[in-house]
Parts: sequence; C-alpha cells; structure tokens
Amino acid sequence: MTAPSIAPFPPMLELGDGRLCLRPWQDDDADSLFEAARESVTSLARWLPWCHPDYQRHEAIAWIARCREGWHAGEHAALPIFDAAGAELLGAVGLNQFNRAHRSANLGYWVRQSRHGQGIAAAACRLVTRFGFAQLGLARIEIVVLPDNHASRRTAEKLGAQLEAIARHRLWVDGQPRDAAVHALIPADLQGAR
Ligand SMILES: CC(C)(COP(=O)(O)OP(=O)(O)OC[C@H]1O[C@@H](n2cnc3c(N)ncnc32)[C@H](O)[C@@H]1OP(=O)(O)O)[C@@H](O)C(=O)NCCC(=O)NCCS
Repeated sequence: MTAPSIAPFPPMLELGDGRLCLRPWQDDDADSLFEAARESVTSLARWLPWCHPDYQRHEAIAWIARCREGWHAGEHAALPIFDAAGAELLGAVGLNQFNRAHRSANLGYWVRQSRHGQGIAAAACRLVTRFGFAQLGLARIEIVVLPDNHASRRTAEKLGAQLEAIARHRLWVDGQPRDAAVHALIPADLQGAR
C-alpha cells in the first residue's frame, strides 16, 4: 500500500503563538461566529458573499457542521482564530481545495471587523501554513484573491507568498468569471515571513 500523498488531519489540533489560538470548529462556537459575522458585514460582504446583511444563527450552525464534516473527511481544514485565552473569536482560516496528486491546497481567511489591522490574519495564516507544510505534507499553498482586495493581497505578501500571476477567469463571482491574483507559498517562503 502506498502512503497517502497528504497526511490525514489529526483528530485534535491546537495551533498557537502565544497571542492566537487555532483549533477545529466546535458546535458551541455558533454564537461567536454569528456575532463576529454580523459585526463584520460591512467589510466582509464585498469579498465573502456568505457574510451578508441578513446572516442568521442557523447559517453559523450549518457552516460549523460542514466544517466538522470537512475535517473528518480530510477535505477542509477550517480553523477559527481565538485570542490566547480562547475567549474571543477573531476570525477564521482554512485550507481547502486539496490537490492530492500535486500536494497543494488553497488558503482562505477573514478577520472580524473590530480586529482588522492588528496583524491577526498574517499571524494566523503563518500558523496554518506551517501546519500544512510540516504536518500535512503540502508542497504548495495558493492564495487566490480578487485584484482589488488590497488588504488580502497585503496579508499574502506579509506571509511571504509570491505573486505568480493575474490569472484570467480564475474565480467565479456573482455569476461571472473574474480574473484573480494568484499568490503562492512553498515551504522555503516561510523563512522570509515576518
Ligand atoms: C484580509 C483580512 C483578513 C486582513 O486581516 P488583518 O488581520 O487586518 O490583516 P493583517 O493586519 O495581518 O494585515 C493586513 C495588511 O493589509 C493592509 N491593508 C489593510 N487595508 C488595506 C488597503 N485597503 N490597501 C492596502 N493595504 C491594506 C494593512 O495595513 C496590513 O498591512 P501592514 O501590516 O503592512 O500595515 C481582512 O481585511 C478581512 O477579513 N477582509 C475581508 C475578507 C477577505 O477579503 N478575505 C480574503 C479573501 S481572499
């Protein structure tokens, strides 16, 4: 039997750097997710359509259930970001769209509006990309962003990701194909990250 190209997700995981704590979603995170999403509609909705003005608690519950299934199936490593005490939900990161043949994945992230500009996305992405390379055995992680999402592109840059292309029709958004900036990390890029 050949070894799997990407390692199975561990049943339990906690990633931390002294300021942030990341671990898989739990059912009782739904209220925190609901509150963070409702707080963040103004800044998130333009980029992440799931975060809409009428976002409801049942959507948070359903999303967490999907994330838990995705973790169990090894298809979506979704991790809420908490402060070190585990008291406040600050946002979330996720590795998804795994390409097992070529050991790559996509990285997504968001941070609640009241906590923007504090380096949270970059720090959380640093933790999850290290996990992806060191523990899952990934060789490449992509961050695919609409070209005018400057905060997200700056986050990718701070992480050490290289801009490789403006890829034509790379994303399907609002019923249409859109060109997107493809930033990517390989393990060596993390050495230069700050
Ligand atoms: C992108 C996002 C996660 C960044 O979160 P964050 O915790 O504020 O990010 P960080 O503090 O680590 O870094 C953000 C950087 O972007 C910069 N930035 C923020 N808004 C910017 C803008 N409009 N233009 C250029 N740079 C901008 C910040 O100054 C910071 O850079 P600096 O540290 O050099 O000053 C957050 O803005 C967000 O949730 N956006 C909506 C969701 C989204 O777009 N997700 C990505 C989808 S691909």
